[in-house]
Amino acid sequence: MCRFCWILVVVLLITTGTLVGKFIIIGETQLSTDGRTAILLEPAERDLILTEMRAFLVSVQGVLVAAGKEDMKTVVEAAGKSGMPPPGQIPDTLAGKLPLSFKTLGFDTHKRFDQLALDASQLGDKELAVEQLGVLMNNCIACHAQYRLEAVTED
Ligand code: HEC
Repeated sequence: MCRFCWILVVVLLITTGTLVGKFIIIGETQLSTDGRTAILLEPAERDLILTEMRAFLVSVQGVLVAAGKEDMKTVVEAAGKSGMPPPGQIPDTLAGKLPLSFKTLGFDTHKRFDQLALDASQLGDKELAVEQLGVLMNNCIACHAQYRLEAVTED
């Protein structure tokens, strides 16, 4: 291949690599004053994620109260509400701003709520449900320790 073509290939590879790194791994972030990674989002995007967070909290409370009463039907419902969202719920533009490890932790949390709901419906074991909730809440702790959300308006 000609020399120019090789240079072109290398330049394209570097560009692609940088874009992949930016959009998939790093996202739109900067170091925050408290040492955490701030994810820079538009106000509506931040609102969307925080709404999801408050739904997580409602599920946690719902599972605990229902498990305490051995009301496994409500455990299933409460956990199911924080299960995997239907595809397309998170717009691509927002997904591109979220770091890979944020998305991984977020998906894992939804998956664990689904698993909790499934096991609760099939096994009806309230102790298992509370134990699974305790484990999945490690994700809440890990993500909150690492990330915060900052609203920025695009100019
Ligand atoms: C993938 C990362 C991630 C996971 C997992 C996660 N959170 Fe969050 N959560 C965040 C971030 C980031 C914020 C914003 C924190 C900030 O800006 O200081 C937040 C904020 C919140 C808030 C505040 C909402 C508001 O309106 O201000 C609540 C409540 C919350 N999370 C609950 C939970 C619970 C409960 C879980 C686990 C079941 C959980 N989160 C799991 C990242 C996560």
